[in-house]
Amino acid sequence: MVSEHAPKVLVASNRGPVSYTLREDGSLDSKRGGGGLVSGLSAVEDKVWVCAALSDGDREAVRRGVSEPGVRMLDIDASVHADAYNGIANSVLWFVHHMLYQTPVEPVFDAEFRRQWASYEAYNRAFAEALAEEADPDSAVLVQDYHLTLVPGMLRELRPDLRIGHFSHTPWAPVDYFRLLPDDIGRQVLHGILGADRAAFLTRRWADAFIGCCTEVLGGTGRTRIGVHGLGADADFLRRRSREADVDERMATLREQVGEGRKTIVRVDRTELSKNIVRGLHAYRALLEERPEWRERVVHVAFAYPSRQDLTVYRDYTAEVQRVAEDINATYGTADWTPVLLHVDDDFARSLAAYRLADVALVNPIRDGMNLVAKEVPVVSDHGCALVLSREAGAYEELGEDAIVVNPYDVSATAEALHEALTMDGDERSVRSERLAAAATSLPPQQWFLDQLDALLG
Ligand code: F6P
Repeated sequence: MVSEHAPKVLVASNRGPVSYTLREDGSLDSKRGGGGLVSGLSAVEDKVWVCAALSDGDREAVRRGVSEPGVRMLDIDASVHADAYNGIANSVLWFVHHMLYQTPVEPVFDAEFRRQWASYEAYNRAFAEALAEEADPDSAVLVQDYHLTLVPGMLRELRPDLRIGHFSHTPWAPVDYFRLLPDDIGRQVLHGILGADRAAFLTRRWADAFIGCCTEVLGGTGRTRIGVHGLGADADFLRRRSREADVDERMATLREQVGEGRKTIVRVDRTELSKNIVRGLHAYRALLEERPEWRERVVHVAFAYPSRQDLTVYRDYTAEVQRVAEDINATYGTADWTPVLLHVDDDFARSLAAYRLADVALVNPIRDGMNLVAKEVPVVSDHGCALVLSREAGAYEELGEDAIVVNPYDVSATAEALHEALTMDGDERSVRSERLAAAATSLPPQQWFLDQLDALLG
């Protein structure tokens, strides 16, 4: 893709590779993000990343004409963005694909929903128009995720010459659940994505669910090709970064907090409803209750970083995580043993330190597109770690054989799986951990991205 004749590549996503904060003195501070797309795109020369301004700092940067080369940030009206991002993307589409609704009382699709849907359309249209402006003839456009499902169809109308791909980073709902959406909205979402030449997913299971929805609702996927690309961990970056001095410092602090000779069960998540953090804590409580021999001998290191705090349901979930952790500590803790070490302030170096220390990694989502933590811990771990993994995480398709697999709703079985992981023989743990690391790194981000591009252009 770096040859002379390679077409210009455009990426579109809600969250971009850079964010700005407005300092008190009025200057702007910029921060670059990481992740699969950032590493993937680094292999491409002629590129533009179209993203939304998400904060006051981002909006100010757009107004002042401050930008990074190859990044175009869209200053979409803040209330339109809030309706599209909080109202539709995160409260409806995210809930449908992760099957999070309490269905006896929700969802309710009323006039307020229709008003927010109009914002979602406007927000998608702003992206389609910016992409149509930025694209050269025959450019390749890779549209990301559930925020931008209508973009491929809108862009196809504006620029039929482009090669358009759509990639879903989430699971896809089975048809019976997808049908919770009002019929016209469900059709619009599917038609929107089918405006792409190729629609791709993280696993075969999510791709098949999408095909199932298209077949049942529309009679088929039309001319759109369907693909699967399972994003892997970035081994080179992780191995290098996790050996830096700030990570060593945090390991020393964590070791002290955990206490000499104790085992660790580690989890690192955004505080996200689908991550199932509360049931994970209940499983840990059940372990301490049913198998008292673990009291004083294990610490649950749980990092739960704030996410989507504009939404009440996320704030309530964050409070519940805190409450249950405190309750376990109050019930079982002793003068020199804190059973749950909960940290909520985001610190990447400390997450890597926890990965290195982990005896057991707990990854038990209700549903998850992939879950990169499951892939990152075995890569970084110092002495090999056992993985307790939900069968509902996309990562299960690649890691299921060497993980201890759980039904994420079954708290008792998860407690037993934690016991099995903690007592796993050292040799077996090393062998499994090495195999997990090999499977986890089989499709590094650059390859993941270039494969998608080749498949789109091929
Ligand atoms: O899983 C979908 C996704 O968009 C991820 O790519 C990303 O890590 C996560 O959701 C973050 O969501 P937000 O941008 O709302 O913080």
